[in-house]
Amino acid sequence: MQPTHHPVISSTGLFTPQESISNAELVESFNAYVAKFNADNADAIAAGEVESLSASSVEFIEKASGIKARHVMSKAPILDIDTMAPRWPERSNDEISVLAEIGVIAAKEALERAGRDAKDVDAVLCAASNMERAYPAMAIEIQQALGIDGFGFDMNVACSSATFGIQTAADYVRSGNARSVLVVSPEITSGHLNWRDRDSHFIFGDVATAVLVEDSSIAPAQHWDILGTKLKTVFSNNIRNNFGFLNRAHPETAGNADKLFVQEGRKVFKEVVPMVAQMIVDEAERLEIDPTGLRRMWLHQANTGMNRLIAHRVLGHEANEDESPTVLDSYGNTSSAGSIIAFHLHGADLKDGDTGLICSFGAGYSAGTVFVRKVG
Ligand code: COA
Repeated sequence: MQPTHHPVISSTGLFTPQESISNAELVESFNAYVAKFNADNADAIAAGEVESLSASSVEFIEKASGIKARHVMSKAPILDIDTMAPRWPERSNDEISVLAEIGVIAAKEALERAGRDAKDVDAVLCAASNMERAYPAMAIEIQQALGIDGFGFDMNVACSSATFGIQTAADYVRSGNARSVLVVSPEITSGHLNWRDRDSHFIFGDVATAVLVEDSSIAPAQHWDILGTKLKTVFSNNIRNNFGFLNRAHPETAGNADKLFVQEGRKVFKEVVPMVAQMIVDEAERLEIDPTGLRRMWLHQANTGMNRLIAHRVLGHEANEDESPTVLDSYGNTSSAGSIIAFHLHGADLKDGDTGLICSFGAGYSAGTVFVRKVG
C-alpha cells in the first residue's frame, strides 16, 4: 500500500523593515510634491493645458483604508519629492539580492521555530507579486543562501501568491515529491507603488514572510493541520501593472504610470468581497466545517472595510479584532504577505483543535483559502 502523506504548516517567519512612514509624514511629502507641481506648471494650468493636482489627507487615508503607517526598505528617497521611490546602491552579482536577503531572514525564523535544519528542506518556492529580476529565480538564490539541497522556483499570483504557494507546497507533500517545503514571500511593494498617485500612494508597505509546509510525519509536535486549500482566478483589469521586459521605459517617466500599480479601487471592493465570501462559505461546506464556528480568520490585508464585510458574511455577525485581526494599521497592504503576517502575529493563543482560515485575494483576480486546525 502507498504511504499517505498529510501536509501541515510547521511554522512561519517574518521580516519587518526597521523604517516606517506614518500617514502624516507621507501626506506632508505628497502635498509638498503637489504644491511644487502646481507652482511649476502654474501657467499651463491657468491656460487649461495641464490639470492641477489635489492634496492628499491623513483623514481620508485612515477612513478609506484603515492604514496608519507602513514599513519600507528605503524611507528617505520615498519621501524626497524629487525621487518618490525606494533607492539603494545597485548590488553586484556577487552580493545577495535584496529580495533574497529579506526572504532568507524570514525563512531562517520559520526554520528555527520548527527546529528544522535547512539541509532537511526539499524545496523553496518564492511566491510574491514582484521579482527583482527575470532570472535566475529568486527561490534558487534563497535556496543557496540557506544551504538547501533540492529545488526552487518563483511564482507570482500577485496578492494571492502566498496561499497559491501553500497549496503548491501541500500538493508536493501530498504526492510524496517533497517532505519539507519553504514558501517565501518577500514583498517590496514600495517598488511597484506610484508614490505620486493620490488615489493609491498610501496603500503599500514592505515585508517578507515564510511558511514551512511539511509532511505531518516530520512536523514538530505543535503545528497546523491543513484541512483543505482552494484557489480561484477570474481575469480582471481592475488591478493591473503593465511593467515587463517588452516595455523597458522607466516606470517613473511621465506617461508610464501604467508600468506601476494601478487599480479601480471601488470596483475591486465591490467585485472581490462577494466572490471571496462565497468562496470561503463553499469551501467550508465542502470540508464540512461550520463557517460561523471559525475561531479566527487571517484575511488578506488590503482594506479594513473589505475585511469587515467578508468576515461578517462568513461568521454571520460583525467580527471583532480577535476573530479577524488586522495588521493593516502598521504594515499597510503588503500584498501576498498580509494574511501570513496576521497568522504569524495572531496565531499563538489558539488552542489545540481550534479551526481558522488563512485567506488571500487580489489582482488577477485571484483568491486562495487555507483552512487550518491547531495541533498541540
Ligand atoms: N486624499 C484625499 N482624498 C482622496 C484621496 C487622498 N489620498 N484619494 C482619493 N480621494 C478622494 C477622491 O477624489 C474622491 O473624491 P470625490 O468623492 O470628491 O470624487 C473620494 O476621495 C473617494 O475616492 P475613492 O477612490 O472612490 O475612494 P474609496 O473610498 O473607494 O477608497 C480605496 C479608495 C483604494 C482605499 C478603496 O477603494 C479600496 O481599498 N479598494 C479595494 C482596493 C484593494 O483591495 N485593492 C487590492 C490591491 S492588492
